[in-house]
Amino acid sequence: MYIVLFLAFFFNNLLVAEEPIAVYLTWQRDPLTTMTIQWITSLNDARDTLHYWPEAKEADKIVAQEGVHSRMPAFYPYLIHRTELSHLEPGTSYCFKLNDDEKVYKFKTMPAQLARPINFVAGGDMYHDEIEYVSAMNQQAATTNPDFVLIGGDIAYAEDRNKSRQKRWIEWLVVWSKTMVAQDGRLIPMIPTIGNHDVDKGFNQNPSKAAFYYALFNLPGYRALDFGNYLSVLALDSGHTHPIEGAQTRWLEHTLSERPQVKHKLAFYHVPAYPSVRDYNNKNSRAIRRHWTTLFEKLGVHFAFEHHDHAFKRTFPLKNREVDASGVVYFGDGAWGVKSPRSPRNPKNTWYLARTAKKRHFIHVKLFADKREFTAIDDKGIPFDFSTHIMQQVEQLQPVPA
Ligand SMILES: [Fe+2]
Repeated sequence: MYIVLFLAFFFNNLLVAEEPIAVYLTWQRDPLTTMTIQWITSLNDARDTLHYWPEAKEADKIVAQEGVHSRMPAFYPYLIHRTELSHLEPGTSYCFKLNDDEKVYKFKTMPAQLARPINFVAGGDMYHDEIEYVSAMNQQAATTNPDFVLIGGDIAYAEDRNKSRQKRWIEWLVVWSKTMVAQDGRLIPMIPTIGNHDVDKGFNQNPSKAAFYYALFNLPGYRALDFGNYLSVLALDSGHTHPIEGAQTRWLEHTLSERPQVKHKLAFYHVPAYPSVRDYNNKNSRAIRRHWTTLFEKLGVHFAFEHHDHAFKRTFPLKNREVDASGVVYFGDGAWGVKSPRSPRNPKNTWYLARTAKKRHFIHVKLFADKREFTAIDDKGIPFDFSTHIMQQVEQLQPVPA
């Protein structure tokens, strides 16, 4: 009798699949009408069905969609499941369930117009030390209820060559999944780009040397994400799996020249053009200034997020290697989860730096129709640097080309 009961219990539990170990969102295309949902399971859960519905509608509006899955690189015993929902309504809350699971997740599409402030967070250099530092900063970031998070590379410090560190990708995703939830219960999408510690040997490599990064996010190395006519986000690869110069720079020029009408344009990437700690004349910073920041200035990028140096910085607006009110402002420099941030340069002795701090932080951004607000916040939730950019006459909307 007891044996029968034991076997029934044992097989019943085998048949009840576990919840995914991580669920995370990003956008591969239009943030107004799509959402890419990804989840990680053990190898024995190959189910890919997702059910979703608008939160405000009845449950009979449930739509089922099949996704795909692939095995995690390096024979890690996990599956990465992915499906991209499309034809969604802008500015709308949706619910979804995975397979037959009871748990309901939520997300929200971005609005079609800039009718409310757009609210997001930027930072990088995350799982540098213990996971507790990542978790604490994630929780502070989530309390700002961001629409999304820009992740500027050096995500899990789990270069492919170092097999003992690869599990950090999974640890980072598990913590992300638990902590990056807004106050209304929706999951906060991430928009990542690549850093040197996401790649075997860091610089000048082929994308195959960043197998985990590309498998987990399934995004091109550099890309533009357009939020209606009010925001364009340019995610760039600062020489890790794509050269700075050449094809990427030509793409950047073409992409910016097609977007004169966009109200807010930002770029983000890993290595700083205007470093707060490292040598101003290091090779990659020089290349970024030569090839990219000249295009930012010419074609109207308004601000950029840089990382890699592990300190806080805010530059003056910069143009033609001078402080210029109509120039580009650079924020950085990547200290989301760095236990001991580095000592940055003193702004009094550095022509481009307006403010620096030796602080673990993220940058909280609010975009309005007529201004931009930037607040640097530390891991206790304390704001320590605030700046507002009132939009200039020259930035006013230009006619959309026919
Ligand atoms: Fe780095």
